[in-house]
Amino acid sequence: MLQKPKGTKDLLPQESYKWQLAEEKIKKVLESYNFKEIRVPVFEHTEVFQRGVGETTDVVQKEMYTFDDKGGRSITLRPEGTAGVVRAYLENGMGSMSTPVKLWYNMGMYRYENVQKGRLREFHQIGAELIGSESYLADVDIILMANNIFKTLNIPNIKLTINSIGCPKCRGKYQKVLKEFIGKNIDSYCDTCKTRFEKNPMRILDCKEKKCKELNVGAPMMIDYLCDECKEHFEKVKSTLKLCNINFEVDSSIVRGLDYYTKTVFEFIDEKSGLTVLGGGRYDGLVEEFGGKPTPAIGFATGVERLMEMYEEYNPNLEEKIPDLYILSLGEVQNKKAIEISEALRISEVIVEKDICERSFNAQMKYANKINAKNLLVIGETEIQTDIAKIKNMKTGEEKEVKLNPNSILEKLK
Ligand code: HAM
Repeated sequence: MLQKPKGTKDLLPQESYKWQLAEEKIKKVLESYNFKEIRVPVFEHTEVFQRGVGETTDVVQKEMYTFDDKGGRSITLRPEGTAGVVRAYLENGMGSMSTPVKLWYNMGMYRYENVQKGRLREFHQIGAELIGSESYLADVDIILMANNIFKTLNIPNIKLTINSIGCPKCRGKYQKVLKEFIGKNIDSYCDTCKTRFEKNPMRILDCKEKKCKELNVGAPMMIDYLCDECKEHFEKVKSTLKLCNINFEVDSSIVRGLDYYTKTVFEFIDEKSGLTVLGGGRYDGLVEEFGGKPTPAIGFATGVERLMEMYEEYNPNLEEKIPDLYILSLGEVQNKKAIEISEALRISEVIVEKDICERSFNAQMKYANKINAKNLLVIGETEIQTDIAKIKNMKTGEEKEVKLNPNSILEKLK
């Protein structure tokens, strides 16, 4: 039998309705902050991610689905949303819109990862990007909005961790000290870390190899080398979050896996599994890196698969939409009437099922029960002759008489 590729998932109807419920709730949160949806291509020129995410990241070095298309261009399936959104922001002149520009997305992402719990090769992210504010108030709004996603989904046991990884100004000094620390043992680090030593030593702190992790213990932390501006920014973020009664921990070991981050970074962690369910931060240099005017920005993305695991765990009784009405009909004239009525009701957003298999009366009754139809309408010869039928509430057994036309039926279904 044909099988799906490793690290991908089929989302079946018994689960997809739960995704829809969660997505709808999250959309409302994002819209309440006046974020607007953006959709960008599944694939971009590879350069977008090389320059955006960074040459020395795991994502770019190890995890991208990159191929040459038939025109010989190097193409990459998006491993994350931010780089493509910023590319689209610039290409479409969105900088001239009223600032800040606030965008959200819900898109599939592709990373060639070691498949394990919470780590897929095709996964989905719902993300938000706020482009054009350098204020700590933007950081706070973004974190509050992320927090509200967990609130609206009724998900407890989630820990917010934050850090500041500074700006290019303070990073120079820090990288020097870090290199001194790592340099002492550089021969014992993995080959990838060795290649990162000169180009981007901070990335070594993000290495997942056990021996590198051990060697990194006690490394100097960026947070201790922040310039005055970054320090003040971080203090304001923290004090305002406290004012808003948001619980958080400062975790100076958060470096994030993507190179574009500056200043505030944060992660929401599932306390049970230890997995990061949502991650984000500032990326004040990315718009300029892509050729735009210097434009500060901040955003986040949540991994929908990881989020859904928690949503389902803490909301076990999610209800699926069920048909409002089953129209049972037998015979050609009756079937035509069933078509006419069901079509009119469906336009009015009533969920209607009717026979499309030419089943017997009993088989149709069985089916109507199986799909949990709320109401039943039988159209037989008598109903056609009298133009009157009965709607039966399948739960209570109560029957109401109706005229055999869509408006009367609609009225009775309310
Ligand atoms: P990220 O931390 O790479 O950040 O990914 C965000 C979230 O996507 C993670 O916290 C995790 O929940 C989920 N995720 C990542 N990789 C996988 C995977 N292989 N399988 C399942 N879930 C995964 C970003 O992608 C940034 N673009 C977020 C951002 C937006 N920063 C600023 N704006």
